[in-house]
Amino acid sequence: MTVLALETSCDETGVAILRERSGSLGSDLLASEVASQIAAHEKYGGIVPEIASRNHLVYAPGLLKRAVSAAKICLSEVDAFAATSGPGLASSLMIGASIAKGLAIGFGKPYLAINHLEGHLLSPFFGDADRVDKISPNISLIVSGGHTMLIQVRAIGDYQLIGQTVDDAAGEAFDKVAKMLGLGYPGGPEIEKNARSGDPHRFDLPRSMLNSENFSFSGMKTAVRYLLPKLKGNYLGDLCASFQQAIIDVLVRKTIAAARICRVGVVTISGGVSCNQELRRQLGEACAREGLEFKNPEPWLCTDNAAMIALAGLLRLQGGFQSQVTEEIDPNLALVPSRYALRNAT
Ligand code: KG4
Ligand code: ZN
Repeated sequence: MTVLALETSCDETGVAILRERSGSLGSDLLASEVASQIAAHEKYGGIVPEIASRNHLVYAPGLLKRAVSAAKICLSEVDAFAATSGPGLASSLMIGASIAKGLAIGFGKPYLAINHLEGHLLSPFFGDADRVDKISPNISLIVSGGHTMLIQVRAIGDYQLIGQTVDDAAGEAFDKVAKMLGLGYPGGPEIEKNARSGDPHRFDLPRSMLNSENFSFSGMKTAVRYLLPKLKGNYLGDLCASFQQAIIDVLVRKTIAAARICRVGVVTISGGVSCNQELRRQLGEACAREGLEFKNPEPWLCTDNAAMIALAGLLRLQGGFQSQVTEEIDPNLALVPSRYALRNAT
């Protein structure tokens, strides 16, 4: 089976083609093309939805052509067309979903509406869980620009929300603090870069809601705002390191607590913030201390891309699911399985 997926939920335009290996476990990523719009939004300090959707429309046809040519296949050989149908920016989601629906109708193949968060959540299994029954039960920490969630994963489509942010997402906190510090967008990589030379213990920033399953990062951000006017001299590295450490402390503590409570043997991490090397290292060490297996996607799979949507699509297809082409995009799509219609149940 070959799945072509489009990801246009935010400011990255992605097209990927994933083929299941016949006769053996595994799948081959035949192509993965991503066009970043960072430069177009950087001067505004954040994403402008109107610019994002127009750019998706500009980039998508070229990426599609490149992906098909890199994969050395014809579009008629694709068995299903998948697209992110939410959560995300409505006008951006609409572009990828409309293209995938058009291709599905044109070639008479199934359409798969994929939840962006499910793409992130399954991305740590890329390459070694190519069958729907190969996903081990796990605690999944999704940390991106729009979400911070802890999910108990029992199987594909069987997800239970343990906790989520009550205000800013972890990536959003990185982006907002970076902006306050005069650093570029996206803020996470900038803060990580400056943190390398800094002392993570110099500034004691608040770790909020430590005894809850939910997260809150706005207090940390406000603490930085009040601290900044009082600082003199060279503080950038120490402040970045202290802020990054405060976020890591909260994420690691809550993830390990969730793994203990749910008695799972595997912890996974995904989403843009999971590119952060210090977070990966510290969560990995905490898991090792607890005897937990730790799975993290390769950095290129952490930020938004279509390969993770293709993997979710392939696994869903193997599980017998497909969507109706009449299915609408949903900017607030929740991570629940009931939106997927069971195909050929009899
Ligand atoms: O998953 P993603 O590409 O998009 C969303 O679905 O939101 O995540 C983007 C977020 C941004 O907030 C960015 O600052 C953050 O991921 N990020 C990082 C790092 N790389 C990206 N945060 C911390 N450290 C990083 N190295
Ligand atoms: Zn994302």
